[in-house]
Amino acid sequence: MQIEVLTLFPRIFEGPLDESILKRARDRGLVNIRVHNLRDFTHDKHRVVDDKPYGGAPGMLMKPEPIFEAVEKLRQPGKSRVVLMTPQGVPLTQQRARELAGQLHLIIICGHYEGVDERVREALVDEEISIGDYVLTNGALAAAVLVDCVVRLLPGVLGDNQSAADDSFAGGMLEGPQYTRPPEFRGMKVPDVLLSGDHGAIARWRAEQARQRTKERRPDLLKP
Ligand code: ADE
Repeated sequence: MQIEVLTLFPRIFEGPLDESILKRARDRGLVNIRVHNLRDFTHDKHRVVDDKPYGGAPGMLMKPEPIFEAVEKLRQPGKSRVVLMTPQGVPLTQQRARELAGQLHLIIICGHYEGVDERVREALVDEEISIGDYVLTNGALAAAVLVDCVVRLLPGVLGDNQSAADDSFAGGMLEGPQYTRPPEFRGMKVPDVLLSGDHGAIARWRAEQARQRTKERRPDLLKP
């Protein structure tokens, strides 16, 4: 998979994309991620990327020209999916991340200021994604979240193939509690069943714990 990120703040991505699982995935060639500075697609002396909205609304909007030029340069016919990060988008879910993980080429536009010129939405964008009902200062952090949750689903990225399948949300439920050594810590004991070696009993216990936790914390996930 190839991912292009279009942003005014490329350095925001230096941390998230250069650590841990994402770094390893890139180093191993499982994903190719390029971060592009939208200012590199301007042609004026001051590399202007924003302007005042028509009609006198407050704040600034991202101009269409640099975004169009960038997308038109990077887009591969029939292959690219263009995503705009915006709080007005469809909320990101694990299901959506799985679908995006099946794409060959993602172009992710990070919005900023009061938003982007509407013609970007009309003519360039295939889908708009929000990472939640709150407003960030710009779409770069939201794009980093999207890249992280898509890339970890790509084949070979997670060491143990099971771990993505067992995630909270993967089966539509939250994961239950997990324990590691020691078997007793400050008087708190690991449940006996996990130490029993009875794999059937362990699987039943895990399923029941997942169901209980989901019922308590996210009953909305259990609704048909
Ligand atoms: N840009 C600003 N806030 C955002 C959000 N919640 N999701 C996606 N992009 C955003």
